[in-house]
Order: sequence, then C-alpha cells, then structure tokens
Amino acid sequence: MTNYPALFSSFTLNGLEIPNRIVMAPMTRSFSPGGHPTEDVAAYYRRRAEGGVGLIITEGTTIDHPSASMDDKIPDFHSKPALDGWKRVAAEVHEGGGLIMPQLWHTGSMRFEGSGLNPDASTLSPSGLKYPGKEVGKAMTKQDVTDIADAFAKGTEAAREAGFDGVQFHGAHGYLIDTFFWEGTNERDDEYGGALEERTAFAVEIIEKARAAVGKDFPLIIRISQWKQQDFEHKMATDPEKLKAFLKPMVDAGIDCFDCSTRRFWEPEFEGSDLNFAGWTKQLTGLPTITVGSVGLSGEFVAGMGGESSQAAPIDGLIERLEKGEFDLVGVGRALLSDPGWANKIRAGNFDQLKAFERDHMMSLS
Ligand SMILES: Cc1cc2nc3c(=O)[nH]c(=O)nc-3n(C[C@H](O)[C@H](O)[C@H](O)COP(=O)(O)O)c2cc1C
Repeated sequence: MTNYPALFSSFTLNGLEIPNRIVMAPMTRSFSPGGHPTEDVAAYYRRRAEGGVGLIITEGTTIDHPSASMDDKIPDFHSKPALDGWKRVAAEVHEGGGLIMPQLWHTGSMRFEGSGLNPDASTLSPSGLKYPGKEVGKAMTKQDVTDIADAFAKGTEAAREAGFDGVQFHGAHGYLIDTFFWEGTNERDDEYGGALEERTAFAVEIIEKARAAVGKDFPLIIRISQWKQQDFEHKMATDPEKLKAFLKPMVDAGIDCFDCSTRRFWEPEFEGSDLNFAGWTKQLTGLPTITVGSVGLSGEFVAGMGGESSQAAPIDGLIERLEKGEFDLVGVGRALLSDPGWANKIRAGNFDQLKAFERDHMMSLS
C-alpha cells in the first residue's frame, strides 16, 4: 500500500524522471578529510536512496577557487581524489534506486580567514562585507567574478562527467551568491550591483556559463532564500512583484527549478495569501519548485542547531499543498539525518516508527 500517492508519484524535471517528490535537502557534514569524500560518504547517501528518497542534493561541495572552502573536511568538487570519491557516491546512489545532484558552493564572506582547503587565500565577497557594516576579507574584482563564475560552470561539467543527474547552485543563506542578491552586502556600482534584479547578474552569469558548458538537457537548480544566516528575518522581496523581478533574470538565463529555502514550509510568504515561498515562486515563474522547512518535524532547524529536539509531526498539511500543485518537490532535511528510511516509512504508513530528531543527529555519522 502507498500512503500519500501525490508524494510518491514521479516528477519530470527537464527530462529527468524523479521517482517520487522527496528530495533530501543539502546538509553539510564535514566528514571528507582533505576535501575527499570517503567510502563512508557514499554509504551514507546510498542508505537514503535505499530508504526511498527520490532525489538527493548533496551537502555543499566547493568549487575550484582558492577562496571557496571554509573547512578542510567539507568535500571539494574539483580535485581528482574528490571527483573519484564523488563518482563512487553517484554510482552507489543510483544502485540504491535514487538520483543525486551536488550542491555547488562558494562560502563567500562566511569563511573565516585562514580556514578551509587553502588557508592562505583571501575571503572574498561582492563588497568585502559579511553583513551590513561588518567588513571582512576583500571585495571581488571583475576578474574574481569571472573566475568564480567559470569555476561554477566547471563544477557543473564535472558533475555531468561524474555521473550526477544535475546540479544545484547554493544561492541561499548568506553565502557568496546570496551576498550578491542581498542589498546589505552588495554595494557594488558596476554591473553586478544596483537594484534587486540587477544584483542577480552574478547568478545569471553562473547559470549562463553552466548552461553553455553542459547544454540544455542537464537539470540546473538554484537554491534561494529570503532569510540570511546574518539576518533570519530579512526579506529581499517584500511583495510578489519584487519577487518576480528578482526571479525573472534567472529564468531567462536557463535555470530549471528553484529550491526555495524556508525554515517552516507552512508560513505564508506575503500577507493576503497562504502561498509559501515555493508556492509564489512557482506561480510567478511557471517553473518547478522545491519547498523545505520542518517537514515531518515539530521544530525548525536553527533551533535544532542549538540543540533543541523535535518530535515527528504529521505531514497532512504539506500533502494538501502538494496536491493543490503549490510546489512540485519536497525537501526533507533533519528527518533524513535521524532516519535514512524515513521516506519508506511514510510510504508504508509506519508512522509509529518515525523517530524524533535529537542533538546527536545534527552531524549524522550514519
Ligand atoms: C546539519 C545541517 C547542515 C546543513 N547544511 C546545508 C548546506 O550545506 N547547504 C544548504 O543549502 N543548506 C544546509 N542546511 C539547511 C537544510 O538544507 C534545510 O534547508 C534545513 O535543515 C531545513 O530543513 P529541515 O527542517 O527538514 O531540517 C543544513 C541543515 C542542517 C540541519
């Protein structure tokens, strides 16, 4: 018997048939010494595929630029040993019955000087700001912008060659791409700064270069968030019209899907409608969207990072929205850390077997 047929129906994303709507949300682990994913990393993702996840987005994995990494145990996505490790990860996930895309990442001004795989590199961001008024590292030159956009495109090509099913660009949570989007950290007066739609120019360049590198058939997703780690309450787009202006350049550049990061999927994005961030993004662009935020759990993830436990929670409200077509895919984070078999348990209706999320699941070893 299959519970929730809407959640377990397939979905086609730019020609890629995803067996169900459950997407494992990207979650940093720091279990790849020297930046190289080990056999344990492959086994960790394989267990989630075998547990019924349709599409896995990997933990953030850093592009080929000295300033990209902030931790030498976060995997890279360019060195030969790392790509060999990633090939094994992709193959094992496929054997487990799932699909997988890497989350390509540049940590921007969230990187502490002296950290990561290249401790001597400078921390880089659009205007040398971590948050409004807080200077860190250096402002990117035009050459830096070009080099980093090229590195995202190179990572996209490497993903296809390593057998991945698409890529996700990390454009959320106050990391590099997002600090171009955010007015508070982008004070540039060149073509990469300006009004909200103009501040998408860096992301647009990445999408266009990646698209040119891999052609039209390789799925490209960008993760976006209104909130920043530096400011959880921030909204870049305060109404649907502004959100549309923000999204359109990325649609025109050839993105296939928006992963709309929120901490609680049931929260309306704007007054006067129940639609959430993924709901509005789908309505305004016509493109598929992924929702995320406390699916299957009673509490949200920032509190979880602070050690707060969450109980398993019903997903009926989520299913109602999915059935209405508000969004297409459902990101699940912590519930899959605590239980690799979460998806199959939901499918079989084994709700009494669902686990709570505890502090020790945060950096899941298994
Ligand atoms: C341990 C941990 C690591 C995370 N790392 C990333 C990351 O590398 N990239 C990213 O975009 N989001 C990251 N997130 C956010 C998750 O992808 C997700 O959006 C968030 O946990 C909300 O989903 P949940 O409530 O189902 O856990 C992380 C979350 C957790 C709990």
